[in-house]
Amino acid sequence: MKKLAVFISGYGSNLETIANFCIKNTKLAKVSIVISNKANVNGILIAEKYKIPSFVVPTKGIAMEQFENECEKLLVDIDYICLAGFMRVLTQQFINKWRSKIINIHPSLLPSFKGVNAIKDALEYGVKITGCTVHFAEEEIDSGRIIVQKAVEIQDNETEDSLKNKIKAIEKIAYTEALHILCN
Ligand code: GRF
Repeated sequence: MKKLAVFISGYGSNLETIANFCIKNTKLAKVSIVISNKANVNGILIAEKYKIPSFVVPTKGIAMEQFENECEKLLVDIDYICLAGFMRVLTQQFINKWRSKIINIHPSLLPSFKGVNAIKDALEYGVKITGCTVHFAEEEIDSGRIIVQKAVEIQDNETEDSLKNKIKAIEKIAYTEALHILCN
């Protein structure tokens, strides 16, 4: 059984997907710990709802190395670190140490529209299809081997909010499929 750590910064819808996967597949995986770099975010309430131990390890005004050292103390016996809306960039050293064990979800069909404004950028570019990508984290941001991709169509009257909602819906499917691949 794979032991997962989930890193969050906000709402936690992907954390909820991962927690539900574990409930339905108790022999495959378990979320051992949730680490949030922000206090008072909805994701922490989701961790509480699923009775998963959660810790706030702040990043504000702190070197990422220090954040990662604090996390390492909590990452005992962990098989995979699932980034689920974690909005900070991990150091090369941390990525190297956990190579092929850190998974990220990004709201575009990579390698298109990397970065924090992926949904807005896809809409502004005028692409007709976008989606989400679950991939291994690498030193270069939003790169790394792709595990699962799911696509959505962009309609003529699409807004940033409507597209965000469509992508959130397929992120659930994509993260679940990725966990089936990794934890089997
Ligand atoms: C998702 O859209 C994900 O693709 C991106 O950040 C967002 C996190 O949402 N990396 P949530 O906190 O899981 O609801």
